[in-house]
Amino acid sequence: MVRAIAILIGAGFVAVLSWALFWSVEGLITEPPAATAVAEFHLHPKEVALASNGLLGTYDNRQLQRGLQVYKEVCSNCHSLKHVAFRDLTQIGYSAAQVKKFAADWGTKAKQFDPKSGDTTERPNTPADYFPTVYYPGQGNPPDLSLITKARHDGPAYVYSLLTGYGEPPAAMLKKYPDAKTPDGLYFNQYFATLNLAMPPPLAQDGQVTYLDGTKPTVKQMSADVSAFLAWAAEPNLPTRHGYGLAVLAFLAFFTLLTYGAYKNIWRDIKH
Ligand code: HEC
Repeated sequence: MVRAIAILIGAGFVAVLSWALFWSVEGLITEPPAATAVAEFHLHPKEVALASNGLLGTYDNRQLQRGLQVYKEVCSNCHSLKHVAFRDLTQIGYSAAQVKKFAADWGTKAKQFDPKSGDTTERPNTPADYFPTVYYPGQGNPPDLSLITKARHDGPAYVYSLLTGYGEPPAAMLKKYPDAKTPDGLYFNQYFATLNLAMPPPLAQDGQVTYLDGTKPTVKQMSADVSAFLAWAAEPNLPTRHGYGLAVLAFLAFFTLLTYGAYKNIWRDIKH
């Protein structure tokens, strides 16, 4: 009796699920989702070779320093980096004195509230300060870049692709989807989720920054460098994490050998 009831309940579930599946598939066949320019022309990030890629990846400090320079001279006009403190820059190869000077020279000063007068005054940044928030009155909302490589799928490759991915909308796309024309004030970029974004191409020509280490500042180079820098900003402890991962793998490999040896030893006189 109990078994019959259980079978009936099971059959009921199967019937309801089959019913739902049938109608959703039927809906997809009779009314397929409309093709869109985004579905057809949005591209996945291109690959970019960074030292931090892969299981054993670590950071290349010289590249991070170049990326910092690109952030400072270009991106920081619009984007904040509020979760990074100046003192963190010692991790990418600067001395404490260099960081102190870098912070003090930073264009946007730190705000300071004076409890006696109630006024907010400005003072030079110190290594303990975080990068000051950027005031941006233009069109669109530039997101804070501290965690952007974590907030987007395939982060560093995405930032690189976005920076190098501006162009004219393909004629084939406009022919097929006349509505997909780039609205005024936006820029076409096939790596952006909606194909059009409010950021004007920030790295538009070679030589926009002058690297101190003599590296040739092509658009690709500057884009890769700033992507590497933002990857570091979002996860400064990546090399440590990779190091731990490797140590754990080595331990597990050693332990596997040990276990195998013990197994061989224990069972050596027993036929099995
Ligand atoms: C003139 C101002 C300006 C400059 C300079 C600028 N950006 Fe932007 N950026 C924007 C704006 C505005 C948006 C928002 C775009 C939108 O959502 O349509 C944006 C968005 C972004 C995004 C987010 C895209 C997404 O998926 O939401 C990234 C990443 C980015 N910028 C990186 C950079 C980097 C790296 C630099 C420096 C090389 C830079 N930006 C320089 C204005 C700027």
